Amino acid sequence: MKNILITGGAGFIGSHVVRRMVTQYPDANIYNLDALTYAGNLENIKDIEKATNYEFIKADIVDGALMEKIFVEKDITHIIHLAAESHVDRSITNPMAFVETNVIGTGNLLQAAKKHWNGNYNGKKFYHVSTDEVYGSLGETGFFYEDTAYDPRSPYSASKASSDHLVRAFYHTYGMPIVISNCSNNYGPNHFPEKLIPLLINNILNDKPLPIYGKGDNVRDWLFVKDHAVAIDTILYKGKEGETYNIGGHNEWSNIDLVRLLCDKMDEKLGREIGTAQKLITFVKDRAGHDMRYAIDATKIEKELGWTPSVTFEEGLSQTIDWYFENKDWLENVTSGDYANYYDKMYS
Ligand code: NAD
Ligand code: TYD
Repeated sequence: MKNILITGGAGFIGSHVVRRMVTQYPDANIYNLDALTYAGNLENIKDIEKATNYEFIKADIVDGALMEKIFVEKDITHIIHLAAESHVDRSITNPMAFVETNVIGTGNLLQAAKKHWNGNYNGKKFYHVSTDEVYGSLGETGFFYEDTAYDPRSPYSASKASSDHLVRAFYHTYGMPIVISNCSNNYGPNHFPEKLIPLLINNILNDKPLPIYGKGDNVRDWLFVKDHAVAIDTILYKGKEGETYNIGGHNEWSNIDLVRLLCDKMDEKLGREIGTAQKLITFVKDRAGHDMRYAIDATKIEKELGWTPSVTFEEGLSQTIDWYFENKDWLENVTSGDYANYYDKMYS
């Protein structure tokens, strides 16, 4: 019997991973562990909360003793670790929260797994979900490969890089069966509107300025979140012990081109003159240490594990906009309260 612990399953990517695992593996017990920070929302997984193979555990990964207890009580055999502080801008204002959750929290989970598994690694797996941002920033050409040297430049990416190093150290030192993936920028339903795409959708719906950092020439490589969830499932079962897999969509966009595309798609769906939303574009002060370009080479996962993205960017973006149109309550709930304070501090 597999007892799979998913951390951060009430967040954006985690909720899609939880849904995928609960529906795909009815014979496994899926435990969703989440502290429900500002980014965690049980509404994201409401549709599966009554599934018989699913249980939610509210807990903070910074509490090491509690992590050990949960590993024993639930006899965890697999972990997919996604819980993290995930927003670069917040890491610039409050780096220590990132050190605590991303570094100490990951260390606590590794320790809990090591103690519980006690050298019996048969049928066990520690899967750490990471980001392409650990590789640093690219110029106009080139890609991130699995063996690209780490060069994190924000407190967020530095904390994720630290956690990746810790996970690899447990493989080399204790023989723990680990696997790591580093993925490009995700987009899709349930994305918290502090990140670029959902922030733009929310602002267009509310006729608010669309803040573009610097000149808007920074480039990101976008992947639909459901494709990431499938990649994670694939790596959990087919990924080789001790290996790293890059995940990406071969889908690079400069921020300004992406904003223009999104604006026009929104106008089209709102049945109004194309160009209306673009009038809201506002260039604002650049992010400190803003990474110029990210681009993933995903050849390894494609060739070795047979995973490729299933939707084009146009399709994924269209599905995403439709989801926000159909879930205005969700958007209103997450943007009331603390979000308004965050937004005022960040963009005023
Ligand atoms: P998110 O911010 O939407 O969700 C994070 C979740 O973790 C939330 O549910 C939150 O409540 C929970 N959490 C935070 N601190 C916790 C703690 N101390 N204990 C327990 N739970 C805690 O993040 P996301 O965008 O879904 O990212 C998930 C993972 O994927 C992260 O590890 C991130 O680094 C990685 N990743 C994200 C992207 C992206 O584009 N969003 C790309 C590549 C990798
Ligand atoms: P973001 O969604 O925060 O992801 P990341 O920084 O992890 O790549 O930002 C994506 C890009 O959009 C990044 O280059 C920063 C830029 N950006 C803006 O121009 N304006 C904004 O309001 C935000 C949130 C991001």
